[in-house]
Amino acid sequence: MDHSTDRPSDIFNNEDSNTSTNVHFDAVLSARLSRRNILRSGVGVVGALALGGTALTGCATGGVAGSTMGSAPASTNLGALAFAAVPKSLEDVVSVPAGYRAEVLYALGDPIMAGAAAFKNDGTDTDFDKRAGDHHDGMEWFSLDASGKPSNSYGTRGIIAMNHEATTDEKLSSFFLHADGGSSTLPRKAAEVDKELLIHGISVIEVEAQAGKWSYKAGSAFNRRVTTMTEAAMHGPARGSEHLITRYSLDGAKVRGTLNNCGTGKTPWGTYASGEENWFGYFARDAKDDDKLGKNNKAITALNRYGRRAGAASRHGWESAGPGDQYMRWNNSVIGASARDDFRNEMNTFGYIVEIDPYKPMQALRKRSALGRLGHENVTFAKAVVGQPIVGYMGDDSRGEYIYKFVSEARWIAADANADDRLAVGDKYLDKGTLFVAKFKQDGTGEWIELSMKNPVVAANPDFEFKSDADVAIFTRLAADAVGATKMDRPEWAGVNPRNGEVYITLTNNSNRTVDGEMAVDAANPRMYKDMKAGKEAVGNVNGHIVRLAHGQPADSTFRWDVYLFASEAGADKGQVNLSNLTDANDLSSPDGLVFSQATGICWIETDDGAYTDQTNCMLMAAIPGRVGDGAKKTLSYKRSDGSSKTVDTYVGKAQSEASFKRFLVGPKGAEITGWCETPDGKAMFVNIQHPGENTKMAAIGDPAKYESQWPANAGYGAGKRPRSATVVITKVDGGQIGT
Ligand code: FEO
Ligand code: CA
Ligand code: CA
Ligand code: CA
Repeated sequence: MDHSTDRPSDIFNNEDSNTSTNVHFDAVLSARLSRRNILRSGVGVVGALALGGTALTGCATGGVAGSTMGSAPASTNLGALAFAAVPKSLEDVVSVPAGYRAEVLYALGDPIMAGAAAFKNDGTDTDFDKRAGDHHDGMEWFSLDASGKPSNSYGTRGIIAMNHEATTDEKLSSFFLHADGGSSTLPRKAAEVDKELLIHGISVIEVEAQAGKWSYKAGSAFNRRVTTMTEAAMHGPARGSEHLITRYSLDGAKVRGTLNNCGTGKTPWGTYASGEENWFGYFARDAKDDDKLGKNNKAITALNRYGRRAGAASRHGWESAGPGDQYMRWNNSVIGASARDDFRNEMNTFGYIVEIDPYKPMQALRKRSALGRLGHENVTFAKAVVGQPIVGYMGDDSRGEYIYKFVSEARWIAADANADDRLAVGDKYLDKGTLFVAKFKQDGTGEWIELSMKNPVVAANPDFEFKSDADVAIFTRLAADAVGATKMDRPEWAGVNPRNGEVYITLTNNSNRTVDGEMAVDAANPRMYKDMKAGKEAVGNVNGHIVRLAHGQPADSTFRWDVYLFASEAGADKGQVNLSNLTDANDLSSPDGLVFSQATGICWIETDDGAYTDQTNCMLMAAIPGRVGDGAKKTLSYKRSDGSSKTVDTYVGKAQSEASFKRFLVGPKGAEITGWCETPDGKAMFVNIQHPGENTKMAAIGDPAKYESQWPANAGYGAGKRPRSATVVITKVDGGQIGT
């Protein structure tokens, strides 16, 4: 049970499936692993290790990371944030600073393909494969020049690709999508499920500004919807695996659809990378399924570790809507004589980073299994350097899950940035490489531990038999358990600071963090405290934090780290909770989205909160971050109930001030702020407002006065009063660059 929030979506998110006891393996493994990593990785590691000790006590030069990676965006000195902080708000509006405007660009149901009628927003709309999906999430910008050709710089015409993560539910039904709220008992009605299947996935839309006014272009040849039903190709080590064979995919290569797409990344070759996150919740498993699989079948271990115990109910009951494969595939149980006759393996076809080329709507999406199978939030790529591997960072968003890094086998060639067959370039860099998982140490350093059959700890793991790198790609969490990775407070978005190459990863919150036990407070996840909200107590790391990593080179096997920011209420205890000295201008809870502007270098941080929502709706913050080691060591103290005490040392980044960190936007009621992209000139910024009115009860359907939110209808956008997820475009009234 999640004590940190009371949000409806938490029932199927934030799964507690990491029950591994890997902390106990730590002591045994660490000596051997660190020796192996040092031997393997050569000069860069030596440099990074040498800096590890001094950096945390104030290495002003930033060491190797600062001098070898990235470069500051030229357009700003990033001296201070040039806007007045937006106050916390409970209003049902989008608030931005004076001098800025926010306009709705693209909302749930908006027609994008020929044949889709205007959205009525009364639950009677259909054809969602021709309209905007629901729960807009991560998104990326792709410029088009005036003639409609791909461009790296054009700022008034482009393509936005975005994820449609989920729907607002109660008792199985995505109730805002059905006229009467839909069926809330099994079996679900097929006509309702048909809509829900198509409302998930990705949309690609062309957008343009004319005389400063942005709109999307309905009917553009670039427009596309990808849904749970769209054919996709499995790539990387998992392709062809026996664990992917289903009635639909007899070869384990062709798979179907993408689901619960959350955060995003843009590759150095100009494609869109999308993370499949909380897909496990959509599958049902028979209560007797463990017996049917048979004793010692490793599938049982894998299903449990990925959140599907026997008897698990599905989020929507899609499996109940009829005998067709489009429904049956959500039943993850043994039904037929073999895997070729049922969908026992269907869940193994989800959980990947998927790549699409937004410039080529006819190309199938590719699932990049070399980047592992997780609850993928997003992937962010380090700056591509000629002659160096491509490096991507990723978080697995469930309580106590891990942070990962992918390092390509191929080394970057500059010409690949402008290739025409972009997915072929993706094949080159993303289908072969090495996946690593992060282990954080008490002394402010950390290790990237290899997850492959080359690592004897994985290959000889006694708890789960890995037969090949395909198995590692599909059952990644179990490989990470085996090597003793550090259990984090729900890793969400990762972002790379273009000024110095440092990596930021949001850790949104963790109600399972305790003083002792399997998820005991540690240096990198040091907080456990109580917080009150409307008379209810929450415990754990209630408000989340943002960890920050520095490397010598992105491919190095070690890193230095600190905590850039501890999210907190301004009034919380400064010794144990409000460790970053937040004030009313910049306090926040549950950081989630995090993207650096390539134009200005500002770090934009978004919240998906349920803990501080008695005081404020979710928000977008702007930050000018420093570097790893710009703060100090801090010791937190805990008293146990038996009177004994425990202390934990951590490393806190520089205390915050309004000059370098403040609130830019507050969203409408019940909404999360997520997804972020900008035009290359930094003059138009796009942000998604996800699930406004999320706390509405299904019984309110038909009585708009009872909807928690009526946004964006109350902002003058579109028909009906049902709340809709939507993209807003933010511009400066004087046409200038945002935030500076
Ligand atoms: Fe879809 Fe972890 O947020
Ligand atoms: Ca509170
Ligand atoms: Ca998120
Ligand atoms: Ca979240």
